[in-house]
Amino acid sequence: MTHAYISGTGFYVPPEVVSNEVLREKYGIDTTHEWIVQRTGIEERRFAAAGVGTSDLALHASRDAIERAGLTPRDLDMILLATLSPDHAFPGSGVYLQEKLGLCTGDSPKFVPALDIRNQCSGFVYGLATASSMVESGRCKHVLLVGAETHSAALDLSTDGRTISSLFGDGAGAVVVSATEEDRGIRGWYLGADGRHADVLSQKVWDIKQRPFIPLNEQGVGQVQPSHMWAHMDGKLVFRNAVERMIGALMQACMDQNLTRDDIDLFFFHQANMRINQYVAQQIGLPEDKVVHNIQRYGNTTAATIPILLAEAERSGRLKRGMKIAMVAFGSGFTWGSVIADW
Ligand code: ACO
Repeated sequence: MTHAYISGTGFYVPPEVVSNEVLREKYGIDTTHEWIVQRTGIEERRFAAAGVGTSDLALHASRDAIERAGLTPRDLDMILLATLSPDHAFPGSGVYLQEKLGLCTGDSPKFVPALDIRNQCSGFVYGLATASSMVESGRCKHVLLVGAETHSAALDLSTDGRTISSLFGDGAGAVVVSATEEDRGIRGWYLGADGRHADVLSQKVWDIKQRPFIPLNEQGVGQVQPSHMWAHMDGKLVFRNAVERMIGALMQACMDQNLTRDDIDLFFFHQANMRINQYVAQQIGLPEDKVVHNIQRYGNTTAATIPILLAEAERSGRLKRGMKIAMVAFGSGFTWGSVIADW
């Protein structure tokens, strides 16, 4: 039987470190390090330079993952790119990544399918479910799955936007999902969504119901209301739903696999907020040393959080071959999901 396993991990974060103090001093946001750390656990995040887009961040992470899988880009059969901050409205960033990986040029171009996933913070687990299904069905041997975000371009970096802008950072994480006959890899996944809450965490930068979709001023130049430019969130509702759905998604995946929490060696939760993850861990009774965090250093990188966590844990030796792991995410939509894997 063909199994799907993660054969390589990679990540990239841009070099500019933006501490909570920098938000205050450079951008003039009325905030404090203590406020942000106490509510979210975030100490700093990374911002990409102007001119760097999501597919550029994805490229670095992808090269890292492909190399660590012992492959070249020509070995890929499919590209999945999860992001809520694509380079452009369309086309998707997956095709830009494909071109940047050099797949479209040279003597033997490889025009593999490139699919963008628009499931925000749950994008990576939705992608893992898709990639493993492609591999297990025999249609693909190696699928590149990337989560990448350039949030810094679309944050209201003023005091008005402080609730949201203090949370997010830029970065990319990638995995290669490969076929194996060995008894290992993705054991199961569980996904869910509840569109009743679609507006609770959203960024309506344009409205396709309008004619034209962005209103024009007298000079014919598109004008976006500041209220539509920036993301909006009911933080308390997000918090409550995140806790409930993450616990439910994890329990469901464990039940499907006949596992208890004690069978899992490491837990990789989406890094939205340290307090959400601590609360989930506490409710389920997970030992602290089994839950992996890096939100302190990168903030919320949305679709990139879990693959960055995996790559870092593998590099540090914390994530080892033979371990059973659980990945759990929740995000805008609302959407959520969990994946159980034997590393
Ligand atoms: N620094 C200082 N003060 C701030 C900041 C800041 N960075 N942000 C907000 N405040 C102020 C608000 O302006 C408000 O002031 P006011 O009372 O004068 O109006 C006050 O703090 C309280 O604001 P709330 O929004 O009620 O603060 P809350 O305690 O709910 O904390 C937070 C906000 C941290 C976002 C919280 O709601 C939360 O953790 N929600 C979970 C949502 C989340 O993590 N989302 C991440 C993205 S979604 C995802 O990835 C799953």
